[in-house]
Amino acid sequence: MMMVPLKRRKLVTAEAGNTGGDGGEEPARFPHMVLFLLERKMGSSRRSFLSQLGRRKGFQVEEQFSKKVTHVICENNSAEDVRRCLTSQGGVQEEVHLLDISWFTESMRAGHPVQILDRHQLQEQLVNKPEVVVFSVPSYACQRRTTLENQNTTLTDALSLLAENAELSNEDGRGVAFRRAAAVLKVLPSAVQSMSQLTGLPCLGEHSLRVIKDILENGASNEVESTKKSEKYKALKVLTGIFGVGAKTAARWIREGIHNLCQLRESGHTLNRAQQAGLEHYDDINQSVTKTEAEVIQEMVEKAVASVLPGAQVVLTGGFRRGKMSGHDVDFLITHPEEGREVGLMPKVVSWLEAQDFLLYQKTTRNSYLESKEGPGRPPSNMDRFERCLSIFKLHSVENQAAVQDVTKRVEGEQRSDEQTRPWRAVRVDLVVSPFSQFAFALLGWTGSKLFERELRRWAGYEKAMCLSSHALYDNKQRKYLRASSEEDIFAHLGLEYIPPSERNA
Ligand code: UTP
Ligand code: MN
Repeated sequence: MMMVPLKRRKLVTAEAGNTGGDGGEEPARFPHMVLFLLERKMGSSRRSFLSQLGRRKGFQVEEQFSKKVTHVICENNSAEDVRRCLTSQGGVQEEVHLLDISWFTESMRAGHPVQILDRHQLQEQLVNKPEVVVFSVPSYACQRRTTLENQNTTLTDALSLLAENAELSNEDGRGVAFRRAAAVLKVLPSAVQSMSQLTGLPCLGEHSLRVIKDILENGASNEVESTKKSEKYKALKVLTGIFGVGAKTAARWIREGIHNLCQLRESGHTLNRAQQAGLEHYDDINQSVTKTEAEVIQEMVEKAVASVLPGAQVVLTGGFRRGKMSGHDVDFLITHPEEGREVGLMPKVVSWLEAQDFLLYQKTTRNSYLESKEGPGRPPSNMDRFERCLSIFKLHSVENQAAVQDVTKRVEGEQRSDEQTRPWRAVRVDLVVSPFSQFAFALLGWTGSKLFERELRRWAGYEKAMCLSSHALYDNKQRKYLRASSEEDIFAHLGLEYIPPSERNA
């Protein structure tokens, strides 16, 4: 280590003007200021390099801190730190400037001392380098409270897009992995600033971490950006946007060179009834449903149900029950407090709605669930076997009425699609009828989110040796069904803290 003998140092610093020098420097051009660079956190080699640079530019830079020093230059220190550091060397006088390295480098660039601005002054406490908050989150989404508030939308949007792309490409495993990763970020109390904060968090696989890192470091992820732009993703989105078209059908059409609705219409493919309705109402169905529209539809459904079976109950489920302000459809669960009274209800409700001209499309499936036939163990699939009606409602609304009157006033010849001019819009509605004894399970199962449901079933299976469906909960150890008359009962059977619908937005 090279050390300047103390004696010589003293001698050198005592000299006026040009100090600590290695010779050949300009005389001090700014004699009213004496700089001192603090080695702490800057490091000795950087300090020595910067000191020489300063002297070459005509600044007087001291090696030692003393009463002469007017400007202390620091890197990554708080004012408090600096004062503490220099107490043994006589302490820092009130009038001494405690400055960030940015003032020094800007002055070097300018060739003269730049004006001291607020941002150059050292903060009392270092606020731009906060203590790294390391987050901690339980592994299963059903153990967490996920509200609609999300501090990490950039990251979760990116991961959700990759999840969607995987699902559309029939890679469900990858899809779930991205969904789980996004769900973990959704519950973090603040925005992620650095990768180190994510240490120890569950469900963040290598791939998801790479995406997060890219976004934190570069502001965007190449993979996400190129997926968004890819022809395949765009075609999958457009084609699966047709009601009745799933990922498999869309993939088959894409292989045949069909990438958009025009090409599909021209291809001469025979579409089933659902797909025909989907194509006909394409724009409406791909426009999200508002909470207000959902409420209007709820009134229609309640009226229908009350007309055909007084005493039956209608509950809004899905995303709207979780507090969302919009959705892709409206979901309802219908039951009657007297077990058995609900049998045969759906066809009557459908007939009533049809008689009112409220339905554009409907397909009803019968209830195929029979507990006595299920036996122990898990049902063959997660598919529900409730009596269910997948439908498209014709929704007249006040706003639409106003819109149509506006349109008639427009200049003629303007091209407008039917969907924009007619006094109603098409809305997807899912109706489900459940026997009262299964109602709590059905309500829990149809409230979502999809990931929350998946995690509940995973928890039940892996942690509790139970099998949960939208019909029942079976305990494999006790070899019996566990009854529940409320969602709270089910959480209790599962050994989970109760999570209300508004906190199931995983
Ligand atoms: P949705 O697909 O309607 O989702 O299913 P959502 O949360 O309401 O979202 P948006 O707002 O419409 O886009 C609602 C719930 O119904 C269950 C899902 O698991 C989800 O929890 N569901 C849906 C089933 O159990 N089976 C199905 O066949 C469809
Ligand atoms: Mn829904």
